[in-house]
Amino acid sequence: MTLQIRSLEEYQKEYQKSIENPANFWAEIAENFVWKKKWSKVLEYDWLQPETKWFLGAQLNITENCLDRHLDTKGDQTAIIWEPNSPSEEAKHISYKELHSQVCAFANVLKNNGVKKGDRVCIYMPMVAELAVAVLACARIGAVHSVVFAGFSSTALAARINDAACKVLLTADGGFRGDKITPLKDIADEALKTCPTIQKSIVYKRTNQEVTWNPSLDVWWHEELEKVDDNCPAEVMDSEDILFILYTSGSTGKPKGMVHTCGGYMVYTTYSFQNVFQYKEGDIYWCTADIGWITGHSYIVYGPLSSGATTVMFEGVPSYPDYGRFWEVCEKHKVNQFYTAPTAIRALAKHPTELVDKYNLSDLKVLGTVGEPINEEAWHWYDDHVGKNKCPIVDTWWQTETGGMMISSLAGITKDKPTFATLPLPGIQPVLLDNDGNEIQNTEAEGILAIKNPWPSLARTIYGDHQRYKNVYFSAYPNHYFPGDGALRDGQGNYRITGRVDDVVIVSGHNLGTAPIENAINEHEKVVESAVVGFPHDIKGNALYAYVITYDGVVPDDELAKEIRQVVSNTIGPIAKPDKIQFVSGLPKTRSGKIMRRILRKVAANETSNLGDVSTLLNPEVVQNIIDNKL
Ligand code: WTA
Repeated sequence: MTLQIRSLEEYQKEYQKSIENPANFWAEIAENFVWKKKWSKVLEYDWLQPETKWFLGAQLNITENCLDRHLDTKGDQTAIIWEPNSPSEEAKHISYKELHSQVCAFANVLKNNGVKKGDRVCIYMPMVAELAVAVLACARIGAVHSVVFAGFSSTALAARINDAACKVLLTADGGFRGDKITPLKDIADEALKTCPTIQKSIVYKRTNQEVTWNPSLDVWWHEELEKVDDNCPAEVMDSEDILFILYTSGSTGKPKGMVHTCGGYMVYTTYSFQNVFQYKEGDIYWCTADIGWITGHSYIVYGPLSSGATTVMFEGVPSYPDYGRFWEVCEKHKVNQFYTAPTAIRALAKHPTELVDKYNLSDLKVLGTVGEPINEEAWHWYDDHVGKNKCPIVDTWWQTETGGMMISSLAGITKDKPTFATLPLPGIQPVLLDNDGNEIQNTEAEGILAIKNPWPSLARTIYGDHQRYKNVYFSAYPNHYFPGDGALRDGQGNYRITGRVDDVVIVSGHNLGTAPIENAINEHEKVVESAVVGFPHDIKGNALYAYVITYDGVVPDDELAKEIRQVVSNTIGPIAKPDKIQFVSGLPKTRSGKIMRRILRKVAANETSNLGDVSTLLNPEVVQNIIDNKL
């Protein structure tokens, strides 16, 4: 593939080129795509506004790059291998030709149901192949998809639908995940009670369970498909038109609808996919993420398909029917590149290694991780037992906001180093800043991670709230993008991400803002106030610890803790349920009334010997009380 870097020297050369003249560098890369009209200018940006535009004036449709352009050369090649939740159900192999036809047909279903260019379509579906079809069908007609992870609650779903004023909802009767069935239609029905903008809900039949039916809103996916053909010309999109919105938690307030646009996102996800994984023609690539997260958008759907790759989509979970499932699937489909999250690795590493050893993993060439820092032990387990010490491990640091991988080794090209994401991709200039925002010049250093220059797949705004976009990402350190992570750099320039520097906790690879969880807890009628922090957890990386103050006269007990967990689960989703809930008489506060989370974090992590000076607190006496009653 023409986009691929093939040696360390070439990486160094390309990196240099990308920094000296980013516009020329990305223009050359962009020549490898199908455009309906070329750009008049490559890049325009002003990060004080902040504003970033790539490939100005260009026109394209990303699905022509993901589908149409492969039809002549690899129409019969498998585009998607879909592996069902249950190993006894048959896997599907969908060729590029078939995928093209399915996408065009479903795009016509969307049109028949009133969806037009620019309309927002919410997708709340399990990991069935039709989820990928739905995403691409939206892109085909220029509708903006907003995928909501199918583990979120009805309240969370409704908030996301309303924030983007979505016109149509795509959902399913239910979803299989391990031995559980999620009643997606019921949850969606509950959500739609408060979503006045939704005009149609198109329901895919997966689990065959009974559902309630609202004839004025609901239509069956398969019945709608009977009414259309598979001829659907691709809508002409401007490079900077919105491709999708994807929500991510913030440290305060409501979730942020990150907006990604067509041209730059396509170029960067494709380029990074091919270089980081060193994907070769005919390889089978598997990313275990859910399409409800950015990893699934960029590296199950868009990057791989635009590269003409074969991408595996897995409906189930790593523990079902047993903890060998990932490896069984790797063997079965002869997977060459395998991309997962540290939390999954840690969970699997707890189980006997026979569960890995009994499968033939000799096709594996590259392993990847994403979502959170990977600890040394998990890294070595992955290297020894899965990679048999012969597969490079790419530890890819990036975010929903960055659209694509930012810091990572390129498999077999640049060197990997346990627990380090290592070097920036071409086009990316990370820096470390001290607390005053000055760039640290020493190579070996620790500080706040920031990015100094624009790259094509940066999210352009927060849907409906550009001011918040500016505040969160571009105000702390002017002229820099601030991702919210800390990092250290070794003498060779390798980066190791040390974790969040804001109030976001990463639990099992999912970003959770603590503020929305506290708000949910405070909704409980017996709760006065609460504070939620993360603490280290063997498998999840971090788990949540909630300190809760109840009203006078309430006797807090296990029942109340259970109710609180339920409130959180209903409001945000089961992933946000605190592991520990400690009832306290007060929370340590500064004199200006701000909760001192630093102290609460230390208590939760059992690091009570070095709490620092607490004497300046408004209420220093509560600290000892909290320690004495720690769970
Ligand atoms: C964290 C996921 C260390 C980080 C693609 C980031 C990581 C947040 C890594 C974004 C990594 C992601 N090493 N930390 N390789 N990858 N993170 O938006 O804190 O779900 O800011 O995107 O995950 O999570 P998000």
